[in-house]
Amino acid sequence: ALDARSLIKHSFSPADLVSVMVVFALVLARQLTMQMMQNPQILAALQERLDGLVGSPSGYMESLPKVVKRRVNALKNLQVKCAHIEAKFYEEVHELERKYAALYQPLFDKRSDIVRAAYEPTDEECEWKPDEEEELTVSKQEEMKEKAKVEEEKKDEEKEDPKGIPEFWLTVFKNVDLLSEMLQEHDEPILKHLQDIKVKFSDAGQPMSFTLEFHFEPNDFFTNTVLTKTYKMRSEPDESDPFSFDGPEIMGCTGCTIDWVKGKNVTLKTIKKKQKHKGRGTVRTVTKTVPNDSFFNFFSPPEVPESGELDEDSEAVLAADFEIGHFIRERIVPRAVLYFTGEAIEDDDDDVSEPSSVMKSDDALFPNI
Ligand SMILES: *[C@@H]1O[C@H](CO)[C@@H](O)[C@H](O)[C@H]1NC(C)=O
Ligand SMILES: *[C@@H]1O[C@H](CO)[C@@H](O)[C@H](O)[C@H]1NC(C)=O
Repeated sequence: ALDARSLIKHSFSPADLVSVMVVFALVLARQLTMQMMQNPQILAALQERLDGLVGSPSGYMESLPKVVKRRVNALKNLQVKCAHIEAKFYEEVHELERKYAALYQPLFDKRSDIVRAAYEPTDEECEWKPDEEEELTVSKQEEMKEKAKVEEEKKDEEKEDPKGIPEFWLTVFKNVDLLSEMLQEHDEPILKHLQDIKVKFSDAGQPMSFTLEFHFEPNDFFTNTVLTKTYKMRSEPDESDPFSFDGPEIMGCTGCTIDWVKGKNVTLKTIKKKQKHKGRGTVRTVTKTVPNDSFFNFFSPPEVPESGELDEDSEAVLAADFEIGHFIRERIVPRAVLYFTGEAIEDDDDDVSEPSSVMKSDDALFPNI
């Protein structure tokens, strides 16, 4: 029979014992690490160590002889000069954009004329080759059905006699997530009157900016015919941080006053509040006007105070605002019809990795405010 001692003696060599101890030590170490990782103080200390390492690649710079460090400073000064030349490059890009904007404008004007029924395009202008792929996949029968449906719709349309392209811009807004998120139900009847969005660039020699103009037909909601939103750009390296310069950034924006018709201000709502009189204990109801969600809040963005300090909410609102302003300028206005039909929408994912824009959208999204 085997007793315990002989079992130990026979089944475990010293090497086995070492292995067991190593495994045990590993388990223990693991547990310890887990505990450490759950301890916020240890985590914070670790993070601090890691942060300290960023930007000081292994203390190599510190280890350099003084004379070499001195020369590295000279290189950094050259780099600052490069940033200033780069700023000039972007100024010329801006000039080019202004020049080409003038070439696009007659086409955008014609687009607007067709949308708002100021111009009826000729048959020739309306000819459009059908999508070949689509035609191949649609069977003959379905094609016939489609034809019948189109014919029917045509009749319906003729009855209603729509003018231009009804709800063109409202449809664009609804098709673009970034914009539809801002859109409230009570904004829609107003945006049906939106007839055009134009981009105006600042003049040469002026501080760089662009203005989005929202042109409305006469309506029951406000008396303005144009609502504007201007985005100021910083097109020069920041003196205190010249190496962060990577092209113009949106630095701030201003909206405009909307002259609402009485009772139509959708950015306001009235709420009833019960108020208790402290002494007498009586309760009365008071009405208060408070801000209401609306796309039209886009025209009264939070102001950036002199100090540049913003509360978190305003900062989030502005970051989203800059993104929207940039998107309208870069994407919506140049290719509105494709957002109306939905053709531009799938493409957007591809565009993210495609450095097609010199305006470096990412920088515009997260400006240093
Ligand atoms: C305020 O917003 C709500 C919901 O978004 C909407 O139903 C309401 O009509 C708005 N109020 C006004 C006065 O427009
Ligand atoms: C409309 O509401 C905004 C607040 O959202 C307010 O600042 C503005 O003065 C109001 N305009 C009119 C004409 O009532």
